[in-house]
Amino acid sequence: MKQFLSANDVTDVSALVKRALEIKAQNLNGDLKSPKVFNGKTIVLLFFNPSLRTRLSTEKAALNLGMNVITMNADQGWQLEFEEGTVMNLDRAEHVKEAAQVISQYADLIGVRTFPTLTNREQDYNEFVMKQFVKYATAPVISLESATLHPLQSLTDVMTIDENKSTARPKVVLTWAPHPRALPQAVANSFVEWMKKTDVELVVTHPKGAELAPQFMENLTIEYNQLTAFEGAHFIYAKNWSSYYDYGKIITPSKDWMVTTEKMALTDGAKFMHCLPVRRNFVVSDDVIDHSNSIVIKQAANREFAAQAVIEDMLINTINN
Ligand code: CP
Repeated sequence: MKQFLSANDVTDVSALVKRALEIKAQNLNGDLKSPKVFNGKTIVLLFFNPSLRTRLSTEKAALNLGMNVITMNADQGWQLEFEEGTVMNLDRAEHVKEAAQVISQYADLIGVRTFPTLTNREQDYNEFVMKQFVKYATAPVISLESATLHPLQSLTDVMTIDENKSTARPKVVLTWAPHPRALPQAVANSFVEWMKKTDVELVVTHPKGAELAPQFMENLTIEYNQLTAFEGAHFIYAKNWSSYYDYGKIITPSKDWMVTTEKMALTDGAKFMHCLPVRRNFVVSDDVIDHSNSIVIKQAANREFAAQAVIEDMLINTINN
């Protein structure tokens, strides 16, 4: 891969998932053999908003490959300017045009984590910040979550479903869940995008008004009744997202959509998934997330192996070109 910004950058999703699972088996067997050609390569990770899982799993993945890792909290220090042709007489001290080129002098790969404005839908859905980085960076860019997509999370989710499924074509339900704050649509968009490339029965359930962007809704089964959606499910993936149409607004803080034991009882012994971090007893009740069918920690652990598969593929691509 030349870049990893969405599922569309991956020519064969199942081959990438297979590789991530192979890496997991190798790493857990203590059979970590980093090809010498990767040693000393450098990845620079830029975080414009906080992260626990993406940051640590990507760092660990790169270290597994013998790489140097430099992580920068890009939300601290001076702010970058992303607009073209602007008069920089306010607080933004450096333009992405220089910054992305300079970082590329030190990096073989660049990871970028951005956050949506949640006020300017056009800008967010045009992936303005990520695209400006890609435009000016001369090193390949990996999305560590963008304004509207979270491909490393979704690759992990596909991998986690694949290794935990007990039926060839499981029923996977993405359920909207309440949250006290306005959150991005990125995880939900991306989950749908990647699930459509895998052999599952995908059902999305959410209250009216929580519809995703039209490009993700295409060919999607929507069930507005959460209880109906849960019937016979093999995986329940809970996530909150803010409104696409009333852009960035909290849809409803009601706890009616929280995932509970009573709702899980409607499923076919479904595994519970969430990308984390999660608000206990608001998104999901303690008894569901602490149940043996909850695979949220396994899911988070898989972030390392998914990231390693992506970094490996991109490094091979840079070496071969
Ligand atoms: N799931 C996820 O991206 O977690 P972080 O925000 O901690 O990276």
